Amino acid sequence: MENFNFYAPTYFAFGKDRENDAGQLVKRFGGSKVLVHFGGGSVIRSGLLDRVKKSLEKEAIPYVELGGVQPNPRSGLVYQGIDLCKKEKIDFILAVGGGSVIDSSKAIAAGSVYDGDFWDFYEGKPVEKALPIGTVLTISAAGSEGSPDSVITKEDGMLKRGASGEAYRPKFSILNPALTQTLPAYQTACGITDIMAHLYERYLTNTSNVETTDRMIEALLLAMKTEGPKAVADSSDYESRANIMWAGMMAHNNSCGVGRSQDWTSHSIEHELSALYDCAHGAGLAVTMPAVFTYTMKHDVMRFAKVAVRVWGCQMNFDNPENTAKEGIKTLQNFLVSIGMPKNFAELGAKPEDIEKLAHTCCYGNGGSGEIQGFTKLNQKDVENIYRLMV
Ligand code: NZQ
Ligand code: ZN
Repeated sequence: MENFNFYAPTYFAFGKDRENDAGQLVKRFGGSKVLVHFGGGSVIRSGLLDRVKKSLEKEAIPYVELGGVQPNPRSGLVYQGIDLCKKEKIDFILAVGGGSVIDSSKAIAAGSVYDGDFWDFYEGKPVEKALPIGTVLTISAAGSEGSPDSVITKEDGMLKRGASGEAYRPKFSILNPALTQTLPAYQTACGITDIMAHLYERYLTNTSNVETTDRMIEALLLAMKTEGPKAVADSSDYESRANIMWAGMMAHNNSCGVGRSQDWTSHSIEHELSALYDCAHGAGLAVTMPAVFTYTMKHDVMRFAKVAVRVWGCQMNFDNPENTAKEGIKTLQNFLVSIGMPKNFAELGAKPEDIEKLAHTCCYGNGGSGEIQGFTKLNQKDVENIYRLMV
């Protein structure tokens, strides 16, 4: 195991009705004027936004509202949010929604205390300072409620890129699993897929002797395997949603990723798909992961065989572990299809004629070095080959 620092000070308020504590929590973490940021309307329709606003009013905390965050959040609204925060002298941002709303809030939080263009952070500048943020999560997926990351799409060139920094960890996150009961089955499944991808991206490591985190990842994958289909089949199943919600946070606040190298190849390759076709990130990952794993499997067959046996219940073939590894990848894909995820370019709405462009942007866009370095090193030709496996 490698040396590491781990500091994840987010306060979690978990369970039914906890959104009513939003005002108290904002006060506790020093907010005196709040930007309430939300998405395309689900929080209005569900009545959640009203409950959150009431809770702020109860604590006599003034707020301004900014809605309209799109899935795969865009830079245009981030610039608007930054102007608004500066004009209104906002000192706390409350994100009410999913990963897109939280990520947009994080970008606004960094841009509001920075004289330059917020996009600098999405070109690699570390985020050292940001307004404090709190979240009320409505979908278990991206893990942004506990992560130091944010992903934004710049309209100019449709570049989807991430930024990171400890200042991006929320001060608090309210996790009420009941809030996810209004999600369509497809979005629930997209979230489950994203959570599993965050686990796989950490499992695929070149660091040896990391049994503790291996076992933590396997446990969370196993939980998704049993709880995922229950939540997809019955949207009102509170208990499965509760388990998925905590798994989503655990999968991505990096408690399972410390002390080991990580992959993130599937995410890099997927981000080009959701940037160009505006598909859901989780759906893109369902198509991307099996292709990436098939292509990179030979780099460490035993690692793929291990997850195949321990998570997917495959029999270890000691004479030919590659077959076990392949069976594990196929079983993962069958599982994702069984919860309603797409399995190829056509089902995702992606076009084979764009493959060269996708691979080029993936490797060179936004000042990229031409190579993806994760579990293994990939150049543009490799990335093109991976996209071809998805067709
Ligand atoms: O906009 P509204 O109307 O709220 O609708 C949303 C949106 O259409 C809807 N929704 C959310 N909660 C709902 C609901 N509908 C009904 N009932 C509810 N309770 O679901 C749709 C998707 O929401 P979104 O926030 O986009 O989903 P998700 O949480 O999957 O976030 C995806 C974004 O996060 C990024 C992805 O790339 C993508 O841009 N990621 C962020 C990460 C991070 N910050 O650490 C890591 C991830 O790997 C990921 O890349
Ligand atoms: Zn993800």
